[in-house]
Amino acid sequence: MPSRSAVTCGSLLSLLALSTSFGVTAATDAQRLTTYVDPLIGTEGPTPGSAIAGGNAFPGAALPWGMAKPGIDTSYLGLAPGLAVDVNSGYSPLGNLTAVSMMHVHGTGGAPTYGIISQMPIYGSLDAVNLADNTTYWQNRSLAAERAQVGRFSTSLLNGVNISMSASSHSAVVRYDFPSCDQERHILVDLTHVLPANSSFAYTQKFTGGALKLGRDSYEGHATYSGGWAQASAHKVYFCSNMTSVSGQAKGETFSWQYDPFHPPSTKPVLRPFQSVQAGAGSGMGIGALFTHPPTQAAQCSIESRIGISYISSQRACQHIRDELPESKTIDDVVAEAETAWHDRVLNRVRVVDDGNPISSNATLKRMLYTALYQMALLPTDKTNEQPNWKSSDLEPAYDDFYTLWDLYSHTMPLYHLIFTGEFSRILRSMIAIWKFEGFMPTGRSAQTNGRVQGGTHADFILADAFLKSTGKGPGKLAAEGRNEVYGVDWQQAFKAADKDASVLPERNADPVAFDGATKEGRGALDEYNDYGFITRNHTRSVSRTIEYAFNDFGIYALASGLKKAAKVLDRYRKQASRWTLIWNPDASTELAGVGSFRGFPCPRNADGSWNTTNYDPKSCGGCGWGDDLYEAKVWETAFGSAPHDTAKLIELMGGDDAFLKRLEASFLPGFGTSVGVNNDAGTSLWNAGNEPSFTAPFLYNLVPGNAWRTVNETRHIVDRYYSDTRNGYPGNVDAGALNSWLLWNLVGLSPLAPLPIYFISAPRFPTLEMDLFAGTNSSTTLRITANKLDTQSNFYPQSVTLNGRPVKRGWLWHHELAQGGDLVFEMGPEPAQWDKDGERVPSLSTGDFD
Ligand SMILES: *[C@@H]1O[C@H](CO)[C@@H](O)[C@H](O)[C@H]1NC(C)=O
Ligand SMILES: *[C@@H]1O[C@H](CO)[C@@H](O)[C@H](O)[C@H]1NC(C)=O
Ligand SMILES: *[C@@H]1O[C@H](CO)[C@@H](O)[C@H](O)[C@H]1NC(C)=O
Ligand SMILES: *[C@@H]1O[C@H](CO)[C@@H](O)[C@H](O)[C@H]1NC(C)=O
Ligand SMILES: *[C@@H]1O[C@H](CO)[C@@H](O)[C@H](O)[C@H]1NC(C)=O
Ligand SMILES: *[C@@H]1O[C@H](CO)[C@@H](O)[C@H](O)[C@H]1NC(C)=O
Ligand SMILES: *[C@@H]1O[C@H](CO)[C@@H](O)[C@H](O)[C@H]1NC(C)=O
Ligand SMILES: *[C@@H]1O[C@H](CO)[C@@H](O)[C@H](O)[C@H]1NC(C)=O
Ligand SMILES: *[C@@H]1O[C@H](CO)[C@@H](O)[C@H](O)[C@H]1NC(C)=O
Ligand SMILES: *[C@@H]1O[C@H](CO)[C@@H](O)[C@H](O)[C@H]1NC(C)=O
Ligand SMILES: *[C@@H]1O[C@H](CO)[C@@H](O)[C@H](O)[C@H]1NC(C)=O
Repeated sequence: MPSRSAVTCGSLLSLLALSTSFGVTAATDAQRLTTYVDPLIGTEGPTPGSAIAGGNAFPGAALPWGMAKPGIDTSYLGLAPGLAVDVNSGYSPLGNLTAVSMMHVHGTGGAPTYGIISQMPIYGSLDAVNLADNTTYWQNRSLAAERAQVGRFSTSLLNGVNISMSASSHSAVVRYDFPSCDQERHILVDLTHVLPANSSFAYTQKFTGGALKLGRDSYEGHATYSGGWAQASAHKVYFCSNMTSVSGQAKGETFSWQYDPFHPPSTKPVLRPFQSVQAGAGSGMGIGALFTHPPTQAAQCSIESRIGISYISSQRACQHIRDELPESKTIDDVVAEAETAWHDRVLNRVRVVDDGNPISSNATLKRMLYTALYQMALLPTDKTNEQPNWKSSDLEPAYDDFYTLWDLYSHTMPLYHLIFTGEFSRILRSMIAIWKFEGFMPTGRSAQTNGRVQGGTHADFILADAFLKSTGKGPGKLAAEGRNEVYGVDWQQAFKAADKDASVLPERNADPVAFDGATKEGRGALDEYNDYGFITRNHTRSVSRTIEYAFNDFGIYALASGLKKAAKVLDRYRKQASRWTLIWNPDASTELAGVGSFRGFPCPRNADGSWNTTNYDPKSCGGCGWGDDLYEAKVWETAFGSAPHDTAKLIELMGGDDAFLKRLEASFLPGFGTSVGVNNDAGTSLWNAGNEPSFTAPFLYNLVPGNAWRTVNETRHIVDRYYSDTRNGYPGNVDAGALNSWLLWNLVGLSPLAPLPIYFISAPRFPTLEMDLFAGTNSSTTLRITANKLDTQSNFYPQSVTLNGRPVKRGWLWHHELAQGGDLVFEMGPEPAQWDKDGERVPSLSTGDFD
């Protein structure tokens, strides 16, 4: 409990803060929240200096959901084993800088995408430089001088060149400061520059053609790439750049060489005075340009470069520069605009209220909160009006880099619904537009290409979740009064798009890592799923895909029901929603030494219905890859996430309340886990903090009335152990914002059980928080979450919970209750209390709640 003097001191401080902030401008306010964002959180793994098993967070400059994400690209070549890993966001703590490039993703694993449209400053003589071999000009950098903040990233190369950058929506400004003017200063433009995938040569990105036209201190053109995570076949990007330098005009030259993505040429390409050059598709040529400033006596030698990108034309890319970054704007102006955008559109949606409790001024917790909010809003990327293929759809929003919905469906998108409702509505429309213009909704997508589908088609699930919450038109107990906070979505089209996922077998794109392919979009092995009700072991990922298709089918059932589709349609999807039970083997069992044995697990099955337990162990994932029975999750983990729509059945299949609770508790015991892949592993328990399929489990104590306190205990331990404000502040790849959003739910004390319009109640980590719900819509409201007497050391167990003055007796809330806003108040105490023991259970499909 905070002492009396602490309260007095806190109120005094807040009074002071009030008086000093009196009359300040919005910009100062913006700076206040942005100072809590540290974009370098999540850039390092547990081994100091190494990015292995780290967050792969993108620390460069960006606007919220911006298409331009300028950042540095670093190489893993030359680093000792155990320190090197593919650099998915371009950044790694160690590794030489090979370029500054315009496009990046955030937090992803798998084969890198982007790191394209680059520039590299080269200082001094070119004698030892081969312009087509980055190892001849790359530069180590001073980590101590590296800075990342909202809207700006800067670094210092060990050759004395400083680089600093900021971003607007489709453009960036990059400044190069050279240590002196008495040597040549070059800017290299290499169209072949990409982030390579060492882990999978089949997946690495490759330059396939382009063109470059030079002007006076400027250039424009286009470049096309294949490969990367989504396996794009021809990802074409246009660009434009204008450079200014106080030391006069540069000499521009071009060069070309026989390009091999894996090996640099042994001879140096020759610089030629040609002001244009192109590499035709299939020519196998690489092309580039070099801008050279001769030595001068000037005192100051900086080059400022403005770069625009577009999917439409290079003229459009140039126009983006004129619109977004006219020369009248300095880098500082651009940074200030970025700070305001992040403050208004993202950070200010959740506010820590200084109520005198010292926790409300804990800067560590605030850095965790605001950095998580920031990192949740880097992807997906808004490419509206930049869709070359959808001529008639310019009015539809176009998002890309849903990288991937497998990571985002359970926790990230439900948080978007509450606090980024405008963007969320546009994202939903964009998923439907992709179906309309390209044939299928995305599950993974990047580089304007659908791919790759790891498990189910989760766009179905996300649309259903949004529909149930927003319209309140659901079956049975899911019917409620809707506030229609999600706007502009055509739900009939949403149903058609989801129905296609569940009804049409996609083309079988061949995939080097999954023999049965069909990883681009839609549901692979759908024929088998429909013939047998489950996928047999003759297909890859048979267990995880059966389970995920079934809960997506529940989503489609809910949508169909709300839209009053024919009984036959409802019946079909309602039945399919239970197919996860067909892959549940009641006799599969495992023993945890000293704990007990556990019976009943998901298990591979043969077409004749017999269980196939060859190389099967419920504690393991049997490889965890594209070709295995389960994708990136142990059988044990997968079981808990099998049926958000039918938790009553799940408890029954696990042997009833006591057996369920015992199994849940055992999930967190150290020592029983096995690896699901180094970038997603954390700790040694069967439950895995770094892995999305584990996200829901720690909240499932709330399914059994009287046990909500266990959720609080478990999740507090998890957050304290695995999350922090350090560079290794996340337990694995943050996956496009997935782990960032999981942390946020924990800080506010709630967690979704999508696609049900339900939130579990745990306990907030701040004494008073204000969340703006549905900002920018007609339903906007504020939810104030208060934890009276919260003390980090001793008083963190809820004793009672009220919503707008009415006691909450169950360990969960309906969306329509939360969506009213108002006051959610927790009374905290030192001992666990069973405040939820007389509460109603979460409704379930098998108990008839959704009939
Ligand atoms: C970085 O570049 C420097 C200078 O070329 C080189 O000596 C060093 O080996 C490189 N470091 C790595 C890790 O490749
Ligand atoms: C790169 O520079 C850092 C200092 O910033 C140094 O710790 C590291 O050893 C250097 N790496 C190499 C391979 O030169
Ligand atoms: C580069 O930045 C460092 C500080 O990080 C500064 O000491 C140095 O003067 C800068 N160099 C140039 C050329 O601006
Ligand atoms: C790249 O992959 C090869 C083959 O798997 C491996 O031997 C090598 O160590 C990897 N290099 C780095 C820098 O990770
Ligand atoms: C750097 O050069 C190597 C060797 O040519 C190449 O494999 C790699 O893709 C290049 N780019 C980066 C960003 O490392
Ligand atoms: C930048 O350069 C391009 C190509 O030379 C030119 O068309 C464009 O007008 C320039 N844009 C600005 C903003 O100066
Ligand atoms: C602030 O919060 C962090 C994270 O929960 C905690 O480790 C630290 O002890 C807190 N600091 C204070 C002064 O309470
Ligand atoms: C599965 O594979 C086995 C062995 O190759 C084969 O006998 C069986 O017909 C296959 N089942 C299906 C449903 O394709
Ligand atoms: C069981 O699975 C294994 C491994 O996939 C396979 O080799 C075997 O044929 C399967 N058994 C039956 C009876 O289908
Ligand atoms: C709280 O959780 C921790 C970590 O899982 C566990 O060790 C401890 O026993 C739990 N406390 C209680 C009272 O159950
Ligand atoms: C808000 O309500 C007004 C008036 O009914 C309507 O015109 C507008 O489209 C609504 N805006 C949104 C975002 O739903």
